Amino acid sequence: MTEGTPTGSLRIAVIGTNYLGANTAAGMAEFGFDVIGVEIDEHRLKLLNDGKAPLYEPGLDPLLKKHVDSGRLRFTKDYREVADWADVYFICVGTPQQEGSDAADLGQVNSVVDMLAPLLTRPCLVVGRSTVPVGTSKLVEQRFHSESPAGIGVEIAWQPEFLREAHGVDDTLHPDRLVFGVQSAEAEATLRQVFAIPIAEGCPVVVCNLPTAELVKGGANAFLATKISFINALSEMADATGADVTQLADALGFDKRIGRGMLNAGPGYGGGCLPKDLRAFMARAGELGVEEVITLLREVDDINYRRRARVVDVTHELLGAEWVGRNVTVLGAAFKAGTDDVRDSPALDIAGRIQLHGATVTVYDPEAMDNARRVRPTLRYADSAVEACADAHLILHLTEWPEFRALDPVALKEIVATPVILDARLLLDAASWRAAGWKYRAPGKA
Ligand code: UGA
Repeated sequence: MTEGTPTGSLRIAVIGTNYLGANTAAGMAEFGFDVIGVEIDEHRLKLLNDGKAPLYEPGLDPLLKKHVDSGRLRFTKDYREVADWADVYFICVGTPQQEGSDAADLGQVNSVVDMLAPLLTRPCLVVGRSTVPVGTSKLVEQRFHSESPAGIGVEIAWQPEFLREAHGVDDTLHPDRLVFGVQSAEAEATLRQVFAIPIAEGCPVVVCNLPTAELVKGGANAFLATKISFINALSEMADATGADVTQLADALGFDKRIGRGMLNAGPGYGGGCLPKDLRAFMARAGELGVEEVITLLREVDDINYRRRARVVDVTHELLGAEWVGRNVTVLGAAFKAGTDDVRDSPALDIAGRIQLHGATVTVYDPEAMDNARRVRPTLRYADSAVEACADAHLILHLTEWPEFRALDPVALKEIVATPVILDARLLLDAASWRAAGWKYRAPGKA
């Protein structure tokens, strides 16, 4: 058992075991609890019961394997196995953007209630971890109270998570803060028992009401998105004046009130969280009549998507205002390094736009090739970064994988058609590329 394992015998069910749920289930087992994950997708279920993560996430496979092997963790598709077995149910399903609307699609949350509520006959705590519009927890509560045999014995709490892809295990085991949206001292005590280990390590806890807990998550992601769009707007100022946006970010970031995190200029934010959470936040603000939030965040969103267009414009300029007959290499397909996730990836979006203009686009990514092929089957894919660069008229650096920073500009110059590189992530060593005879361009850098 892990040192400091909490005493007591809470049994934990985790409903929905994709990214958030798989990390949560493995993390709760590591904290010392018996855990059952409920997963309705057969393929994912099989992987998880073999101790394998349903997606690429550093450190998650070993943790799952460790606890599947120890017997402390297993997965099922049958809700009946967890109903009246667990003391605490964590809801960890996805809340994607609705088709044709900015609002969050709560279909998966509602299905969990459909399946679980009729099976709960004894008092328990149901804790939402999914990112939801403020007000959702009360609707969920009403449904459990009216549809569960246990009635008001089913208590609802909300405990938003702040996991970053590629750091999910660490963020689960060592969160930077815990937010407990609770309605009773008993619920708070139960959550303190669940998270006894990080709390003992000094993790701060904010105990608040349900709407505050719901708003913390949307507010955090909206603020992070705002920071990124802010530095990207300053990047335009840097371009217009000859300033260097990276040094600007460093200098701003030394101010503790600002901080350096989320101030890397680049092709803008993507992924399965920031873009859709920002929109869901705006949609909910609209329903509540809070126009200030919409005005502010609409611009954040617009700045973000203009970044992609800007990369395409600079690409066109560097190709000599020609598209047809030009070979463009795109280094990176994942929305950021350390993941195989391509949801709303700036890299793939930009690759697709350039192809639509008529250039031949070849993509390479160390982890996200399968997902990229599925989403953008018409792009060309290479088996290595070097292979992708052969005969290129322009290389685009769009996802910040360390292996791209290790490329040798001297050797690469021998295999490209023209030595031109657009470093949209601003992370390559400009001096060594220029010294090797490359035309090096990075938006926001002199
Ligand atoms: C984000 C939040 O950071 C997590 O706290 C949150 O829990 C999660 O969403 C979620 O809602 O579940 P994640 O989507 O994994 O996590 O990715 P981030 O590391 O925040 O990056 C998001 C995007 O912003 C990426 O495309 C990244 O390349 C971009 N980014 C990030 C920048 O352009 N500049 C930066 O300085 C930082």
